[in-house]
Amino acid sequence: MTAQRTTTETILRLEDIRAGYGNAQDIIKGVSLAVEETEIVTIIGPNGAGKSTLLKTIGGTLAPRAGQFYYRGEDITGRETHELLELGLLYQAQGRNVFPDMTVRENLLMGGYTLQQSELDDAIDRVLTHFPQLQERLKVEAKMLSGGEQQMLEMGMGLMVDPDLLLLDEPSAGLAPAVQSDIFDKIEELNRNGASFLMIEQNARQALSISDRGYVLALGEIELEDDAEALLENPRIRELYLGG
Ligand SMILES: Nc1ncnc2c1ncn2[C@@H]1O[C@H](COP(=O)(O)OP(=O)(O)OP(=O)(O)O)[C@@H](O)[C@H]1O
Ligand SMILES: [Mg+2]
Repeated sequence: MTAQRTTTETILRLEDIRAGYGNAQDIIKGVSLAVEETEIVTIIGPNGAGKSTLLKTIGGTLAPRAGQFYYRGEDITGRETHELLELGLLYQAQGRNVFPDMTVRENLLMGGYTLQQSELDDAIDRVLTHFPQLQERLKVEAKMLSGGEQQMLEMGMGLMVDPDLLLLDEPSAGLAPAVQSDIFDKIEELNRNGASFLMIEQNARQALSISDRGYVLALGEIELEDDAEALLENPRIRELYLGG
């Protein structure tokens, strides 16, 4: 038991998580993994492997069928997304999640919905220090932004609550290569400021290149876990996920 005990350096731990949907209960088949404080961890794997399902389960939008989650040693199994947010754990689902008809500022305020009124202005200022390009677009409707700017806005909405751990489902999806690089740079910058990340990425090479460790999820199970550098050099991983 002592050997298994969660140390204070572990920010997130999953123990034998099983989850699925309706008639397909067997999508996640007993996944255990951990994220240490200030780590960037990337999950890669083929389409349909269950990556998004796993992140949804951690993020509180899908209840696990079995297993436990621990956040800094505290059992958070069954907590809902807003409760997790109050603990410092932010989940961002796959796809663009901004409100298109609202302005950039209104979107940021939505991101801060769990905050007190008196905290909102400081939170917006803090977000704008990370995303200065949003400053002059505060009054523009989100639908007028480019894809990359919308992704920056989405991350900015998440940062309104100053999270300690960000769960990001494909933050670079659908963006031009140069903009993808901006997103990964931003993740590194936030990580240098102390945030931890667990992310899913199709752009496995770039994601692993900024990560400490990675997991390969295939058919709902962790197939491999290793240092990101080792995964980048692993011939089988290169062939399957890194384009040779
Ligand atoms: N809401 C749902 N209801 C029923 N089945 C679902 C639902 N969402 C996903 N699935 C199924 O669960 C399996 C895993 O899907 P999931 O979206 O987790 O995969 P993924 O690894 O994120 O794939 P991708 O790389 O394409 O995003 C798939 O077979 C999918 O069809
Ligand atoms: Mg997915």
